[in-house]
Amino acid sequence: MIPRILDLPRFRLINTMSPLEKAVNLSRELGIDLYIKRDDLLELALGGNKVRKLEFILGDALRRGCDTLITTGAVHSNHARLTAAAARKVGLEAYLVLTPPGPRDPKGNLLLDRLFGAKVIYVDSREEADEAMERLARDLEGRGRKPYIVRRGGASPQGVMGYALAAYEILMQAYGQGIKPNYIVHATGTGATQAGLILGSRLVGLDAKIIGISVGSPADKIKKEVHSLVLEGAKYAGIKGFDIDPEDIVVIDRYTYGGYGSITKEVVEAITHVARKEALLLDPVYTAKAMLGLMDLVDKGYIEKESKVIFIHTGGIPIIFQYDNILAQYTPES
Ligand SMILES: Cc1ncc(COP(=O)(O)O)c(C=O)c1O
Repeated sequence: MIPRILDLPRFRLINTMSPLEKAVNLSRELGIDLYIKRDDLLELALGGNKVRKLEFILGDALRRGCDTLITTGAVHSNHARLTAAAARKVGLEAYLVLTPPGPRDPKGNLLLDRLFGAKVIYVDSREEADEAMERLARDLEGRGRKPYIVRRGGASPQGVMGYALAAYEILMQAYGQGIKPNYIVHATGTGATQAGLILGSRLVGLDAKIIGISVGSPADKIKKEVHSLVLEGAKYAGIKGFDIDPEDIVVIDRYTYGGYGSITKEVVEAITHVARKEALLLDPVYTAKAMLGLMDLVDKGYIEKESKVIFIHTGGIPIIFQYDNILAQYTPES
């Protein structure tokens, strides 16, 4: 089944496996064996989970002869930054239709979007963004261009393939290091990362419970999206008769700290805690909330002591600099 995924159109952005590192100090503190899958270190433009998805999205766009990528996301979007970077890598133009939340000062991801020469268009809502992308695509076509609309967060069957393949990488790497993981925990938004992990784990026999920590949306909404993305992904990979029980999809929405993009004192304290324990940087929109969820699930006994847990660091580091004033506000000088 994995060979089928390897045969799909793909533009290689990643040449090495991201590290799987033991977080020794946090492991000791939590009473589990905690490993961090460093997808924040994936090779393209400051890394993150979107790099894996974009390999297959770019593959599809190039196969169709497209010359322009159009996508959408929040003003602080990692997906937008990496789409702009990936486009440059293969000589395409990128248009980013950005919505709240996020400050518009040229910092963090927004600054990087500008460095990559992406054309940025601001709108006020997701609905408006969808319409604006369609309008833009028609306009570009009218001028003889071949645009490709990349779904928000790379949540397409192509995007799902990135994390289906990552499940294989995790299996090889973990088993190679003598680790049989009980849990995989990560931040979940559009659900494409989780869908890929679920699909890939089933295909390769990686028997760990996958827990998505919602960064904003209600769990039921994300579960539905994960389920349909798993099915779309399986179909794209030509895997017939594949299904999963929606009840088996685990998404927890108790750790959104006020909703998508809301950055509270607790979120910043999680960032400083992990920075001081492990010299590991988390971002305030995605990975800090996922880590807060992981720590609380251990505290509550949902994740049992001595479990082997892989936390996927899905990236987002430039967001630290986009919200530098909130981070500084809640981090007193030592
Ligand atoms: C750093 C980071 N973590 C997690 C996610 C969520 O991934 P997904 O949309 O695949 O659920 C995103 C998506 O924007 C992200 O940028």
